[in-house]
Amino acid sequence: MTADPLVLALTTALGDRAVLTSPEDRARFESGWRYGKGIARCIVRPASTAEVATALRLCGEHGARVVPQGANTGLVASSTPDMGGAMVVLSLERLNKTIEVDRAGRTVLVDGGVLLSQLNEALAKDGFWFPVDLGADPQIGGMVATNTGGTRLLKYGDVRHNLLGIEVVLGDGRVLTQLNRLRKNNTGLDSKHLFTGTTGVFGVVTRAVLQVAPLPKQRAVALVGCRDGDAVLALLGALEGELGDVLSAFEVMSANALTAVFAHQPNLRKPFAELPRYATLVELSSTLPADALALEAVLEARLGAFLETAGDAVTDVLVGKGDEFWSMRHHISESLRSEGKMLAFDIAVPRSQLPAFTADVEALLLKDWPLVRLCDYGHWGDGGTHLNLVWNEAAIGRPAAEVIAALQPRIYEIAVRGYGGSYSAEHGVGPHNQRYYDLYTDPLVKQLCALLGDFCDPGDRLGTVRLS
Ligand code: LAC
Ligand code: ZN
Repeated sequence: MTADPLVLALTTALGDRAVLTSPEDRARFESGWRYGKGIARCIVRPASTAEVATALRLCGEHGARVVPQGANTGLVASSTPDMGGAMVVLSLERLNKTIEVDRAGRTVLVDGGVLLSQLNEALAKDGFWFPVDLGADPQIGGMVATNTGGTRLLKYGDVRHNLLGIEVVLGDGRVLTQLNRLRKNNTGLDSKHLFTGTTGVFGVVTRAVLQVAPLPKQRAVALVGCRDGDAVLALLGALEGELGDVLSAFEVMSANALTAVFAHQPNLRKPFAELPRYATLVELSSTLPADALALEAVLEARLGAFLETAGDAVTDVLVGKGDEFWSMRHHISESLRSEGKMLAFDIAVPRSQLPAFTADVEALLLKDWPLVRLCDYGHWGDGGTHLNLVWNEAAIGRPAAEVIAALQPRIYEIAVRGYGGSYSAEHGVGPHNQRYYDLYTDPLVKQLCALLGDFCDPGDRLGTVRLS
């Protein structure tokens, strides 16, 4: 028998299966996929919207803070409890049954706990997919709370662009339902925007209506060696001008990032004899079948023409081998982690400024931290750069925390104040970047968040970040 009255109340209301208390059962909810580790008072796993409301009401009555949690794949530590052992993790993993496709409407009503992979498997039967595409397998509610971006944002937009309606349980258990299925509806406040990208501090997303996309029937992929960032932008301009309708990804991988991939992934082979400063992964996709549009031939022809005008700005073009090139891209993050100490970034700047911004960071490193390597890669098509830094701790002879404390604020300062950029382009706000939120957010926006917080979460119980 447990002595914790909240555990008792939750178990009585929701059943034994809904509440986990032992350290072994709690473990997978207490550690994030990459970041975040803490101790929970207990885990509650409601299986319906009404149960989420009950759980939140009971937590409120017992004075407990609550961390809403999806698949725990986030990268800013926002879905795990702190070390205090007093926070309740509210996992949506059992709220994962509803996937109602409106075929003619090209929309889907989905429970917040449904996994992206589960949704796409169901949608594929009707020839659709949810095109916010990334390496991890998050839950839909978590994707809304983060406003996930991913590798095909260039063509399809982020979650916000594809979200039509929402159901949210507010901090005290009230249920806000605006499950709009319309593409056009100008009838006042569309409240879903308050809960998109705000990390679950205003409410728990229990259901969503999403716009979905027809599955492409073909993809064509190329890897283009570019001498420098300006060559990458010239390539992007040329491709958008001629192939904008079918351009679905434009991902950039620096030589340093790829060197780590080939060092740690024995199954992947170096595509070029010498790695260029940037290898750019270009993907075209189309719903037209190959007999109606020879996509790969189109890509080959356009890249051939670009190569003629680009001179030595382009070092090489390889068309085909899409799976292999995507595999390189998806292995960068873990390969860099195997290299030594790493400081990861998720920055966006206006994309015209990517070369200048990157050059500023390179100059800073060369001057003050010559042993720190810049291993940048990312979504240049939408201005995103994971400007990751890697170093050997023994060679530098200083603790990693010291290097991070010295470099992180300087680089964010260059990005945000120097280039009008973002310190969190697609990973959201969490304990990992709270201090930069505090530093860079307009005080009036914080005041607005305080008002919204008073309304949506009057007991101030939800989430691991503070937006006010
Ligand atoms: C990626 C993750 C880190 O793009 O956002 O690989
Ligand atoms: Zn990314």
